Amino acid sequence: MMKLALLGFGVVGKGVYDEVQKRSDMEVSKVLVRRHIEEIAPIATADIAEIVNDPAIDIVAEVMGGLHPAYEYICAALNAGKHVVTANKAVISAYYGELTELARKNGVALRCTAAVGGGIPWLVNLERCCRLDTVTEVGGIMNGTTNYIMDAMHAAPVAFDEILKKAQELGYAEADPSADIDGDDIRRKLTISANIAFGAQLSEEEIPMFGIRTVTDGDIAAFQSRGYVCKLIATAKRTEQGVAAWLEPTLVDAHALEAAVPQNYNLISFQSEYLGRQSYFGQGAGRYPTASNVVQDCLDIAEGKRAFYTDAAQLMTPDNSGVMHAYYVRTDKADAWLEAITAETLGDGVITKPVRVAQMLPWAKANLEMGNPLFIAAIR
Ligand code: HSE
Repeated sequence: MMKLALLGFGVVGKGVYDEVQKRSDMEVSKVLVRRHIEEIAPIATADIAEIVNDPAIDIVAEVMGGLHPAYEYICAALNAGKHVVTANKAVISAYYGELTELARKNGVALRCTAAVGGGIPWLVNLERCCRLDTVTEVGGIMNGTTNYIMDAMHAAPVAFDEILKKAQELGYAEADPSADIDGDDIRRKLTISANIAFGAQLSEEEIPMFGIRTVTDGDIAAFQSRGYVCKLIATAKRTEQGVAAWLEPTLVDAHALEAAVPQNYNLISFQSEYLGRQSYFGQGAGRYPTASNVVQDCLDIAEGKRAFYTDAAQLMTPDNSGVMHAYYVRTDKADAWLEAITAETLGDGVITKPVRVAQMLPWAKANLEMGNPLFIAAIR
């Protein structure tokens, strides 16, 4: 009987607990929580030492989220010889090198399948592909909350705040939903995926992004008038310079696979040299989908899986100077640069000539930081 300790008992923690209750091959023997929860009172503790010093515990499942103290607790568990499973993309993305090294040093497993794509077995299949083939590109729709919002906004005019509130009620959104709508959550998932796909170690802060906070009904109506659907899409690809990585709202043809992704679903794909494109569609957020990948990781460990998804981790800086495409830009503060690259108008905005991603995303970020409300979307 495998014994688990849960760090946290929120949306995912309670989901893992419920799933494990149904099984006869594992049990939750301790839960780290600060508040009193009647259901788990006999196994609750507020002291991490009671977990890491308990020789009976095989796996520590960290489902508390956030960077600190999650990082310190994971380190303590690995150093105590426990296997660690986490759904926490923030901690894996930020401390990828440190944590994988610590797991290796202690001869224990570190798994984080639920950290990217919730319930989708994305990282495990990416790992399998990398064993045989060269992955050239990863990415797609990697956030349930923002897809839920964009899907609703395409179906009928709806206030952004109202639909965000619904996503929060359904348990899709991060504790601070700016991490969803501004792109940080996706950037972490892209960083982890690119690291595994390319044997890289990227710093998430170096990946430029633009979220959906400023999209309006008017933008969506203009896109639909041209047969486009707008989705928040992340991309990381091998290039001659090394790796390019970015994320931005993107206009896809209404017949593209991405256009059909509803509600909180994700569609994450890789391109590889022999296989071509392979896509994974499923529940990218929510209690039980995410919990199922946590439990799957525990089962992988029980079956003897010890290594992380990849052993390689070469420090790399994303270089987007070789990637160009046209953009939709809506701003009431057009400057000389935007005027010089404008090709035509669309609704309240303009369509540009092809522009380097490395130019457009810093320009858009600088305008937002200056308080100029604008929205941009790449055109595929
Ligand atoms: N807030 C995330 C999402 C949860 O909406 O996709 C899963 O990572």
